Amino acid sequence: DPETFNNILLEQVRDGVYLLTINRPKVLNALNAQTLEEMNNAVSTVTADKGARVLLITGSGEKAFVAGADIAHMSNLSPLEGKAFAEHGMHLFRRLETLGIPVVALVNGYALGGGCELAMSCDFILASDNAKFGQPEVNLGVTPGFGGTQRLTRLVGTSMAMELLVTGRNMSAEEAMQRGLVNHVYPQPQLLEEGLKLASMIAGKSGTAIQLTKELVQRGQDLDLDNACIMESDLFGLSFSTPDRAEGMAAFLESRKPNFG
Ligand code: HXC
Repeated sequence: DPETFNNILLEQVRDGVYLLTINRPKVLNALNAQTLEEMNNAVSTVTADKGARVLLITGSGEKAFVAGADIAHMSNLSPLEGKAFAEHGMHLFRRLETLGIPVVALVNGYALGGGCELAMSCDFILASDNAKFGQPEVNLGVTPGFGGTQRLTRLVGTSMAMELLVTGRNMSAEEAMQRGLVNHVYPQPQLLEEGLKLASMIAGKSGTAIQLTKELVQRGQDLDLDNACIMESDLFGLSFSTPDRAEGMAAFLESRKPNFG
């Protein structure tokens, strides 16, 4: 691989399954501008591979997923530079959210501030039992800047989001699961293995059906029900033009497992 990253690792760990590891364990994988840039380049590498089916995102070490945006980096920014930094992350996170393959966060420890915002921009979250979630920006005299006020509110509702945002308190993995932020909690040593198992399962499904389904879920949230359902029947119709539809339906009728390319 000619690509060299300093702050992240990118590997294809199974057929169609990529693992992006944020790799600045000395600062609990805090996000600075260079890390965002490398993540953006890694996403381009993944999307260039037509065989890519799932992107997993995790943090290096056993303590943190991402403990937030890099406070040392932010402490030197002017207001306009702060805005540009927020936009940099916003753009990357929106890209993950609208990527044509599922993106799953494996939250292996602290997911605070920008780390919680990164996890929430993934399609869903698997957490280790020591994970902690929160938006502590209120303690730094700033607002969230990578979408936290918006995605947390959509995920847990206005009143719980308000409580978390104005107290800056941490949530345990268990509480985050109760509140609908996290899908599953695993003992720390099992998180990656469980993530890989799930990713391999997803990688065996129809990639085109998954791409269209993700588009429906994402775009549908910003539409009224009538228009969202029209979009669904349109993309349902479109899916009939794909080789995966021919294979999937033939396999069922021939009582065999489908083999999607
Ligand atoms: C820079 C960080 C960091 C961060 C930790 N470190 N978090 N550096 N930015 N967000 C560094 C510490 O300075 C320290 O460096 C090393 O990582 C280990 O952290 P400790 O604090 O010593 O560990 P511990 O005592 O176990 O506490 C863990 C922690 C704490 C509770 C997670 O580190 C913490 O509160 N971090 C900040 C969390 C936070 O406020 N996140 C939100 C940031 S604002 P040294 O050199 O001393 O070893 C944000 C806005 C997003 O994310 C939007 C931007 C547009």
